[in-house]
Amino acid sequence: MFAIAMALIQENVPPIRVLVTGGHGQLGSRLVAVGRQRIDVEVVGLGRAEMDVLNPSSISAALDGHQPHVVIHAAAYTAVDRAEEDQEAAHALNVVAVGSLASACRDRGIRLIHISTDYVFGQAPRRPLRPEDPIHPQGVYAQTKADGERMALSSGADVAVVRVSWLYDGVGQNFMNTMLRLAKERGALRVVDDQMGVPTAAPVLASGLLDMAAMGEDMPTGLWHYAHEGVTSWHGFASEIMEIAGLDVPVEPVPTSAFPTAAQRPSWSVLDGEALRVRMGWPAMHWKEGLEICWRLRLKAAE
Ligand SMILES: NC(=O)c1ccc[n+]([C@@H]2O[C@H](COP(=O)([O-])OP(=O)(O)OC[C@H]3O[C@@H](n4cnc5c(N)ncnc54)[C@H](OP(=O)(O)O)[C@@H]3O)[C@@H](O)[C@H]2O)c1
Repeated sequence: MFAIAMALIQENVPPIRVLVTGGHGQLGSRLVAVGRQRIDVEVVGLGRAEMDVLNPSSISAALDGHQPHVVIHAAAYTAVDRAEEDQEAAHALNVVAVGSLASACRDRGIRLIHISTDYVFGQAPRRPLRPEDPIHPQGVYAQTKADGERMALSSGADVAVVRVSWLYDGVGQNFMNTMLRLAKERGALRVVDDQMGVPTAAPVLASGLLDMAAMGEDMPTGLWHYAHEGVTSWHGFASEIMEIAGLDVPVEPVPTSAFPTAAQRPSWSVLDGEALRVRMGWPAMHWKEGLEICWRLRLKAAE
């Protein structure tokens, strides 16, 4: 990293300007934090008040004001269960706004990285899922995310759609911190063991997305999967969180039916991230290594 930084300084390479939508969200805020530690990208994260992606003139003003080379679209309607009752809002944010943003990027020659989800697969074959595998979205959130992917890919912009699964971080409200809080409050956990997937550490994903943005015109475009190595269930993930935290708390495996939700969750959410990893030259990283990174960030944030 130091050698790359020195090379960039010596060659006087200006940083790639990256604008992040949803800049105060889980992924958006992590992109901004990781961006602060790099010299090859200059990252600005805008919240809804500074750039409302539902409003085309707000999109234009932000793009013209900040003149980014790349937009990373991390804003989305992410309330999976609420979307079942709130179809219009989910469609507006996950489909219509994606179209508006992608067109605005196309018109200005700005590259776009759009974030999507494993949920587009619905019930899928039990093997790592590749980008070209057929999708069967179930529920409003999944359907709107699938439609949003199509909007982005058909916009004519230089766009990379990156699907990710089970996103979490060491800080903020997410599965990891919820499990740690519940373990302390209740002294025991009951966690679903019949949904399989790959937890994705937001700090590692953010770093990867900025690597993509930093490639300039060589940025990969099209549909990609980002995933760590390994597979687990929510129960396996929760158990590992207890282990790393040194908490001796029983974690009872329960079926999905123990926690009825408005929206159905896929029972198999395992993305195959190899194509993007090879394209980018990233080393393979097991999801447990991602967890260690998030755990260390959590400890640091608490200092
Ligand atoms: N979380 C997961 O487990 C997961 C898994 C797979 C894929 N993903 C995808 O990953 C991406 C990032 O997810 P995340 O977990 O970071 O979501 P998040 O924490 O819910 O962040 C979404 C952000 O979008 C913002 N937003 C909402 N309406 C907006 C608008 N009109 N204009 C601008 N910003 C607006 C929200 O701001 P407010 O707070 O002001 O509403 C929020 O900061 C999403 O595309 C999501 O679908 C997430």
